[in-house]
Amino acid sequence: MSEFPVIRRRLLKGFAAWIATVPLTGHAYNTSLNYDFSGAAADLELNLEAPVTCTSGTRAQTEGPFYSPATPRRSTLIEPDSNGSPLVLEGLVMTPDCRPVAGAVVDIWHCDEQGRYDNQGYRYRGHQFTDGAGSYQFKTIRPTLYSGRTEHIHVKVQGENTRLLTTQIYFPDRKQENAADRIFRPELIMNLKQTVDGWYGRFDFVLQPKA
Ligand SMILES: [Fe+2]
Repeated sequence: MSEFPVIRRRLLKGFAAWIATVPLTGHAYNTSLNYDFSGAAADLELNLEAPVTCTSGTRAQTEGPFYSPATPRRSTLIEPDSNGSPLVLEGLVMTPDCRPVAGAVVDIWHCDEQGRYDNQGYRYRGHQFTDGAGSYQFKTIRPTLYSGRTEHIHVKVQGENTRLLTTQIYFPDRKQENAADRIFRPELIMNLKQTVDGWYGRFDFVLQPKA
């Protein structure tokens, strides 16, 4: 008997297994944002010092398979039953010449305490608009590790007159896991400090002007 039917069966089995890994959303992993730019948000009064020099633009990374559009507009993602370490994440959104981008949307999402994404609801998902100084601030928890990935927070940032930035930011105290993560990039590490309540992270985004 020919061995081809066996090979064909194996190929079909492999294909079926591969199909099972393709997310049902079927998007191209570069979803655009669809929020109304309605000007700067109320002043957060963070008084963050802008750097003297900025990069030409924050490095982009894949959005991954778990982005959800139309997230709630909010700055606190902590839920009553959250039990991760609290994290205050804040920073500036700037142009390449370090000028603030007011009214830019910052949309973040990350996994929960067990390394799972909420793909039905909006747990640990939310967006907000920067204030007149280009500042944003989220109160959330530190995500955790999940299969094959170091700890990270996904972000999409866009100003009314800038290109969309999709990227991921990382934690400096995950040295081993960062080194083992194939897409980790050191320039995307936040500044991180431990506080009495948990953690304080700062990351500034630099957006490129619209082409
Ligand atoms: Fe992720």
